[in-house]
Amino acid sequence: MDAIEVIRAKRDGAELSPEQIDWVIAAYTRGEVAEEQMSALAMAIYLRGMNRAEVSRWTLAMLASGDRLDFSDLDRPTTDKHSTGGVGDKITLPLTPTVAACGAAVPQLSGRGLGHTGGTLDKLESIPGWRAELSPQEMRGVLDTTGGVICAAGPGLAPADRRLYALRDVTGTVESIPLIAASIMSKKLAEGTGSLVLDVKVGSGAFMKDAASARELARTMVDIGNDNGVRTVALLTEMGTPLGRAVGNALEVAEAVEVLSGGGPADVVELTVELAREMLAAAGLTPGENGVKDPAEALRDGSALASWEALVRAQGGDPAAPLPVAAERRVVLAPASGTLTRLDAYQVGLAAWRLGAGRARKEDAVSFGAGVTLHAKPGEGVAAGEPLFTLHADEPERFDRAAQALEGAFDIGADVAFEERPLVIDR
Ligand code: URA
Repeated sequence: MDAIEVIRAKRDGAELSPEQIDWVIAAYTRGEVAEEQMSALAMAIYLRGMNRAEVSRWTLAMLASGDRLDFSDLDRPTTDKHSTGGVGDKITLPLTPTVAACGAAVPQLSGRGLGHTGGTLDKLESIPGWRAELSPQEMRGVLDTTGGVICAAGPGLAPADRRLYALRDVTGTVESIPLIAASIMSKKLAEGTGSLVLDVKVGSGAFMKDAASARELARTMVDIGNDNGVRTVALLTEMGTPLGRAVGNALEVAEAVEVLSGGGPADVVELTVELAREMLAAAGLTPGENGVKDPAEALRDGSALASWEALVRAQGGDPAAPLPVAAERRVVLAPASGTLTRLDAYQVGLAAWRLGAGRARKEDAVSFGAGVTLHAKPGEGVAAGEPLFTLHADEPERFDRAAQALEGAFDIGADVAFEERPLVIDR
C-alpha cells in the first residue's frame, strides 16, 4: 500500500477500506507517511467527508497508535465529560470535584486553549504550584485519593492524533466533523473512562455555528463511544454568549471557586448541575441511593469544595494561594441605557485572547491574569456611563485592540422584550 493511492481514493470520493485506514495511520505514526501527504489526505477528508464506518475505523486506528488506560478495577464507576470548547467555559473546574463528591470517579484528560477558546489546563495552571503533566501512575494515585484527576494527555495516548491535530491546525482542516469526532473520541477511549457525557457547543463562540452541524458531530461521537463500550450521551448547549461573567484563566478559576462555594453565576451553576447529573446517570449511579449525592446538594453542603481543594493539592497546587492578577485594568462603559439583548461569545473570546489570555502559537505562554469581566449578561439592564466590561492585561498596549473586538459585540435595546435562550438546546 502507499500513501498516494489512499490520497487519490479519498480525493476522488471513494470510501477508504479498513486496511487503507489502519495502514495510513500506523505508517504516519511511524513517520513513513510524510506530513505533506497526511495534509493532502486531511484536506481530501475535509472536502469529501467520511461515512460512519470510516470514522469509526479512523478513531480505532488512532487509539491503537498508543496505550489505553484501564481503571476498571477502581471501587467506583468512572465517568467523564468533554466539551467541544467555548468562551468562559470553565465548567470542568466545578464539575469534576462535584461528581467526585457525589460518588463517581472522574479521570479527565484536558487540553490547552488555542485561538479564542480557553483551555482547562491553562486555567488550572494559574493556581500556584498546580501541575498538568502527570505520569499514568501519578494519574492513578490522584484518582485513588481524591476521586478525580484533571491532567494533560501523556505522549503515549493517541500519538497519531497529537501529530495530526497539530498538522490540521496549520492546514485549514480543523473544522471537519469526521476529523473532530475521531480526534476527540480516540483520546476519550484511550483515557479509560467507562462512560462519557459530551457537551457539544453551538453558536458563535463554538466550532459548530449551527445546531444541524452540532447535532451531526454529537451523533457521530455518541455512536463511536457506544460502539466501543463507553456509554456515551451528548447535550447540545448554547455558546452564542459567554458562560458566566469571567473570561480568562485566573478570572475563571475564581468564578469556579464561587460556584463550588455555593454561589456563582446562574448559568454556570445550571450547566454544572445538569452535566453532573448526566455523568452520574451515565455511570449507572442514582442520587439518593447507596450514598450517592445529588450535585446541587454537593455544591450546597461544602463537599464539592472540599473535593476541589483535595484535587488541587494532590496535583501540587495551593487552593488557598492568591490567584495571579493582571498588572493593568481598563473599564469599558455602556454607551446607552436599556436591556443588554445580545453579547457575542466569539467577540468576547477574541477580546480576551488579544488581552493575552490565549495563545497564537502552541508554544506561546498565556497571561494568567488577563481576560474580560462582564458586568452585565443578556437580559439584564445597563445604564449609560456605567461599566459594561472590565479588561485585564499585563501590557496596557493590548487594551485598544481588545476594546475594538468588543465594539460590535453587543446590543442594548430600550423597549425590547428579551427572550432568553435555553442553555441546554437538545439531548
Ligand atoms: N478538540 C480535539 O481534541 N480535536 C479536534 O479536532 C477539535 C477539538
